[in-house]
Amino acid sequence: MKLLEDKAVLVTGAGGGIGRDFALAMAAAGAKILVNDIGTSVKGEGRDAGPAQKVVDEIRAAGGTAVANTDSVADWECANRIVQCAVDSFQRLDVVVNNAGILRDRFFFNMSVEEWRAVIDVHLNGSFYVSRAAAPHFRSQESGCYVHMTSTSGLVGNLGQANYSAAKLGIVGLSKSIALDMARYKVRSNCIAPFAFSRMIGSIPTETEDQKARVEKLKAMETAKIAPLAVCLASEAARDVTGQIFAVRANEIFLMSQSRPLRSVHRAEGWTPQSIAAHALPALRAHFYALDRSQDVFSWDPL
Ligand code: NAI
Repeated sequence: MKLLEDKAVLVTGAGGGIGRDFALAMAAAGAKILVNDIGTSVKGEGRDAGPAQKVVDEIRAAGGTAVANTDSVADWECANRIVQCAVDSFQRLDVVVNNAGILRDRFFFNMSVEEWRAVIDVHLNGSFYVSRAAAPHFRSQESGCYVHMTSTSGLVGNLGQANYSAAKLGIVGLSKSIALDMARYKVRSNCIAPFAFSRMIGSIPTETEDQKARVEKLKAMETAKIAPLAVCLASEAARDVTGQIFAVRANEIFLMSQSRPLRSVHRAEGWTPQSIAAHALPALRAHFYALDRSQDVFSWDPL
């Protein structure tokens, strides 16, 4: 018996990169796959039905079952059509993988409202729309599993990605809320923060020898290395795993922390701004976080 035998899985943004490997791995594990992708550029410009269909063709050539869908996750009506397409094709839906994504990087002080909205729409709103559209099916069948893609750009930080970081950390809150609200229906929800050498990070300059060496190391972070965790989370083997945040980088898997109080100070007579400056801030300062970026925390080469 394969791990995902007869399960129906919807993977958004599955026409390329990490999502394509999710679709292929889940199909190999026995699942029927709704391959959703609008076939757009990294920035979300243009559309092409080709990538979704190509992945469907690959799955079918390997003996699997797959259907293509080219609706955008960034619109409520379209998101409903994506879910309906999966249900119509497979008569059920067991797993939703919210993977579709775009980038519009810009330093915060220069970021346009349109750059902000485009990224929030695809990542945060798109993950809500597709998840919400699937919720009635999961609820009535009293089972279901969500896997959402977050990022260490949100969990830790990164330069020039205010829109993306906010969306990706928003997805963490969305996932935890779904896990809480739908536990009563035996529905699970988890996040993965991937590190992968997809086209999303493939545009790093390679002019100097140092840059070339760095990119060679990054290539170890193959997109296919993220898929085994997604397959496992989608399966019964992870039936008790929900509300968690994982990260995957080549052959490393991390369980990421979630925010809890680090330290407290108390003054029986209450605080003034002056006593906060004189007592509270010095007492808490030892536990302040540095202005770390993702690469400061994940400071060793991918293994
Ligand atoms: P990618 O650019 O190769 O794939 C994203 C796919 O989403 C593309 O095929 C694109 O056509 C599709 N897409 C974009 N907008 C869409 C929409 N509105 N509706 C449906 N499909 C849409 O990128 P990659 O690297 O495979 O990223 C996959 C996910 O992993 C994204 O959510 C990304 O934010 C996340 N991620 C990736 C990291 C990496 O190191 N590559 C790091 C952290 C997070």
